[in-house]
Amino acid sequence: MAAPIAHGVKQLAVLGAGQMGLGIAFVAALRAKVPVLLHDRSPEQVQKGLALMDKLLAKDVAKGRIQQGDATEARDRVQVVNGVPAFRDADMVIEAVSENLQLKQTIFADLAKELSPSVILATNTSSISVTKIAASAVPPGVAPASAEGQKSAERVVGLHFFNPVPVMKLVELIPALQTSDSTLARARSFAIACGKEVTVSKDVPGFVSNALLMPFINEAIMWLEKGVATREDIDTTLRLGMNHPMGPLQLADFIGLDTCLAIQQTLYAGTGDSKYRPSVLLERMVDAQWYGKKNGKGFYEYD
Ligand code: CAA
Repeated sequence: MAAPIAHGVKQLAVLGAGQMGLGIAFVAALRAKVPVLLHDRSPEQVQKGLALMDKLLAKDVAKGRIQQGDATEARDRVQVVNGVPAFRDADMVIEAVSENLQLKQTIFADLAKELSPSVILATNTSSISVTKIAASAVPPGVAPASAEGQKSAERVVGLHFFNPVPVMKLVELIPALQTSDSTLARARSFAIACGKEVTVSKDVPGFVSNALLMPFINEAIMWLEKGVATREDIDTTLRLGMNHPMGPLQLADFIGLDTCLAIQQTLYAGTGDSKYRPSVLLERMVDAQWYGKKNGKGFYEYD
């Protein structure tokens, strides 16, 4: 059997310091022991993220999982930077901004403009076409179908982490139509270095994970809407009856109702299949700006 390809990541860059980006920076710095450049357009978000990282490292030390020296080294590996131009020395960038195609396309065009074609560009999207994102990863004036455009797009790959990243053991790997075998092998090897198991999904809407999870969550919301059972009884049934760590409504709050809706809209638009149509209650809750755990109100209330 051929030896696995080394990830070759000596410097990682993470774009977005929300719960996913921060979690990715955490496992890269602590488990893969790779220096991380972290950028978010919101300085408050960066500060919040770093405070969480300090808390998680302190907990790992207190529980005897790592030594204080490991925690200090991991923390020192994370450097906050000012924007994409500061990613110049990175070998891999992982984008973890919100689920918005236009935003991701703008970011990938910018990354392609600023960085050498040898830099792997990974997206943590949970449902958007990685192929569409890859087509935007070309320098200005270059056609995606040209030889130069294909060369630029072949380093784009989907690297889908799960929340909370330090705890969840999986990374879903999604090759775009353009992704080269070497990009895919290096991305896989990097995810393994971060302590994750890897599965591969074709670039279909929602990939394997969310194409299966979202109808389940949506159905639970519809059952609540229909008054079949209370929120507690729906969640407890799945938690205790099926040994799920969280019930579906709790999980929806945990993922973020805005994120759930965005994923469901991508699934429905991408397939036309009515089983993916978001429930009216979910739409209304997002209209009300009830986003779940992250802003204190969803199916449940949070401090
Ligand atoms: N960040 C880091 N660590 C966290 C965390 C966070 N946000 N939340 C909890 N943890 C850690 C806790 O610190 C604790 O660690 P220790 O073992 O070191 O003490 C551990 O997780 C267990 O936490 P708790 O004891 O507080 O609570 P719990 O046993 O109920 O577990 C949970 C919490 C791990 C979140 C668990 O409820 C769970 O696995 N829930 C399901 C999560 C899930 O399905 N995630 C995937 C969502 S889908 C997704 O992310 C992809 C997408 O595209 C939408």
